[in-house]
Amino acid sequence: MSDQLINPARRSLLKTLGTVTAAGAAGKILPGCTSEENMVKGNLTFTEIPHCLDFQHHLPEHYSADILLRWGDPIQETNNPFHPEKLDAADQRQRFGYNNDFIAFMPLAADIQPDRGDLHIRSGNSSRGLLCVNHEYTQPHLMFSGYNDKYSATRGVSAQHVAIEQAACGHSVVEVERGPDGWRTLLGSPYNRRITMSTAMDITGPAAGNERLQTTADPSGTQVLGTVGNCAGGKTPWGTVLIAEEGFGSAFQGDPQHLDDPREARNHRTFGIRATNRNLGNYDRRFDIQVEPNEPNRFGWMLEYDPYDPKSRPRKLTALGRFEHEGFTLVCKPGKAVVAYGGDDDEHQFVYRFVSKGIYKPEDHRVNRELLIEGTLYAARFDEDGTGHWLPLVHGQEPLTEENGFHNQADVLIDARRAAALLGATPMDRPEDVETNPHNDCTYVMLTKNKKRQKSEIDAANPRAKNIMGHVLEIVPPGTYGNRDHTSDNFQWQQFLLGGNPNAEHPEERGAYGQQSSDNISIYGWFANPDNVTFDHRGNMWIATDGCERFGFHDGLWAMATEGPLRAAPKHFFGCPRGAEACGPEFTPDGTTLFVSVQHPAESRNSTYDNPLHRWPDNDPQLPPRPSVLAIYRNDGGAVGS
Ligand code: FEO
Ligand code: CA
Ligand code: CA
Repeated sequence: MSDQLINPARRSLLKTLGTVTAAGAAGKILPGCTSEENMVKGNLTFTEIPHCLDFQHHLPEHYSADILLRWGDPIQETNNPFHPEKLDAADQRQRFGYNNDFIAFMPLAADIQPDRGDLHIRSGNSSRGLLCVNHEYTQPHLMFSGYNDKYSATRGVSAQHVAIEQAACGHSVVEVERGPDGWRTLLGSPYNRRITMSTAMDITGPAAGNERLQTTADPSGTQVLGTVGNCAGGKTPWGTVLIAEEGFGSAFQGDPQHLDDPREARNHRTFGIRATNRNLGNYDRRFDIQVEPNEPNRFGWMLEYDPYDPKSRPRKLTALGRFEHEGFTLVCKPGKAVVAYGGDDDEHQFVYRFVSKGIYKPEDHRVNRELLIEGTLYAARFDEDGTGHWLPLVHGQEPLTEENGFHNQADVLIDARRAAALLGATPMDRPEDVETNPHNDCTYVMLTKNKKRQKSEIDAANPRAKNIMGHVLEIVPPGTYGNRDHTSDNFQWQQFLLGGNPNAEHPEERGAYGQQSSDNISIYGWFANPDNVTFDHRGNMWIATDGCERFGFHDGLWAMATEGPLRAAPKHFFGCPRGAEACGPEFTPDGTTLFVSVQHPAESRNSTYDNPLHRWPDNDPQLPPRPSVLAIYRNDGGAVGS
């Protein structure tokens, strides 16, 4: 592929980095993010795939993908073949949900006591496990016949379809196993379960029981039915899975202006609750804010549940704040507080960190389960000089006081966005996944885009006006390579890469990839709109995108080193069929399988169930396009990417 290597004027790339970011922030690589001894020297040897845009998914040569789970695939034994026209809500609750997003692979080992998820995790088993998958939202116009477009489907959905949609959202747990013929699901496994918009769960932490969480059905403010907007998530070494609630506002209808309490009116408006939202509240009245003005306050949290105990009740973790959570990922070091990082995926919202009150001790498997209940939430301020600071969201500390409408810590957490803004946190370009590379112990923030950022609002951390390309920022806590103090309230930071084509005419759309690496990315190495991220067992970064079609090619996966001469030099690994975004990339512990979610295939203007853009992955004229999870592996069984 050497003829496809670009040889851009490297100087112009460096100039891009220099002009659009603060001097000092991106003009050098901070010591400690990269190590001479640990350089990842070109170990991503797969043959890059091209940028394209068609109705198939794309893999490098010598790789295969099993279509492991599609919307409607049964997870319990059934004799009924799947067809949307025959589906009802009870049947959907026994089947894989819609619009799969986050994926956690939780290893399963033989002969382990039921409550010891930590031991399952430690087994590192890479051929049998629980696939724990979020289902972010539903699209009735692509799920069911009879809707002319997205609008008619959101405003005029039938009661029966709404009930199916509520059962198709949430989360799935499915036992999977790798055999000689590839990956398969184990139908009827006792672990298999669905979590939906109706599953009973607890509310825990400082906001539990607060009057703003109380409703007619739950005067205690501690029990809630269901979860929605489940985007990304996280997992813990004690064997639980974290689920984020992101765009929950669109599930609610009603005009906040008509509420008696101006505080709740402002709160609900922040999350996009409008009279013109979809009509779910006509059928399930708690989703109408005129009926239950507090119900939205019971959404917008992180959840934790135990996939190894199929009867376990999920719980909402109010200590991690309420906003449009992309996900939370953990840094757990023995003898230290647990640190979790997350983003609020909206324009001009913030990057957050949680530090547990308790200490992580690997052997304390029961105590560890309480670590996310109590602790301190912080929002990030990124200063122009490349330093950064974590600002605590603590009630009573200025300005989070009575005068500003914060009566207690519950108010601070429910209105975390307002609290972070008052503290002076830096408004960001839609923070998505925030995840730490276990090799260098630096933390990476995916900033997907922000077309609302004005020229006057440019800062070092968000260096482009009308940022349509997105960027990735690197947080460097104090310490040394691989051994950093994530509990420190101060850090250094720099731009890791700027999305976009390095040869774009407009300087603000010009991508910038690393320092030494600019000569090494091909014409297919660039991408835009980073969304999810994961790291392979060798420390390479794998980014999933959501938005590249706007620039003429599919969304997918790009892999790159975070250090060495090829630092931030992406190679294109996977491409989605048209309309889809890639999400949830997740490796087995041994790195030989990569699971990826293909979400909303065939989403496009005028694409409907009756007349879809395509019918991936079945290509069956009787079936619509179906969101699916793929298991990708190298044909010779080696580590993915090498
Ligand atoms: Fe649901 Fe933030 O992407
Ligand atoms: Ca996402
Ligand atoms: Ca997305």
